[in-house]
Amino acid sequence: MKKKIVIANWKMNHDFYETTSFLRNLLKIILERKINHKKKVIIAPSFPFLQISNQILQGTCLSISAQNVHQIENGSYTGEVSVSMLRSIGVQQVILGHSERKKYFFETNEILLKKIHISLKYGFSIIFCIGETFFEREKKKHFSVIKNQLEKTIFQFPSEKMNFFIIAYEPIWAIGTGKTATPEQAQKMHQYIRSLFMEKYGKKISKRISILYGGSISETNARNLFSQEDIDGGLVGNSSLRIEKFVKILLS
Ligand code: 13P
Repeated sequence: MKKKIVIANWKMNHDFYETTSFLRNLLKIILERKINHKKKVIIAPSFPFLQISNQILQGTCLSISAQNVHQIENGSYTGEVSVSMLRSIGVQQVILGHSERKKYFFETNEILLKKIHISLKYGFSIIFCIGETFFEREKKKHFSVIKNQLEKTIFQFPSEKMNFFIIAYEPIWAIGTGKTATPEQAQKMHQYIRSLFMEKYGKKISKRISILYGGSISETNARNLFSQEDIDGGLVGNSSLRIEKFVKILLS
């Protein structure tokens, strides 16, 4: 059976001391409670703390991910971080396509395509986010919106690249709002996403690809969400910032 994956997306939270003490404590709890046998855990801290986080988690069952990367190899792009820089400090995973990057940093599908290209070139695993707005769901366009997002991005890549992807379905209306998709709503969408992978790449890939849910996951709703057939884990924002909450989610 596929191990469920739980990813902590810390966004722009936790300073150096919070990051390092969280990771040391979490590691202790995970080993004590043998959580690593049940779940694969990935932590996405901010850029400045990726290196120290990687050092702390070296040789353990936890791994780290960057929250973003620039689409160009190197050059005069003040303030940006390249894939080769991340690789040079041992990072091998990146979150791409998050709706906050689309909303606040104007990331388009064209930019995302470039980011996927360069990340794959450097052998990175990609946690790729897709999701619809409340308005799109109200207009019953959520399935076509998701299909379109996949067709314009991931589906541009051949089947042999699919094992580099983890999909995160994050309905935008559920992010940071406390308003989670019901397990049924999420399952329905996850099943649909898997069927799109089936159509495009066949049964083997559609079964193997992990599709995570994200959007107001908490210690109280995680178990119901994770028990759905097509939900392979979660991408957690707010509730991953407090260790007690996050551990409860990992135990769900
Ligand atoms: P919340 O769990 O805070 O809703 O955030 C979800 C998210 O955006 C994870 O990437």
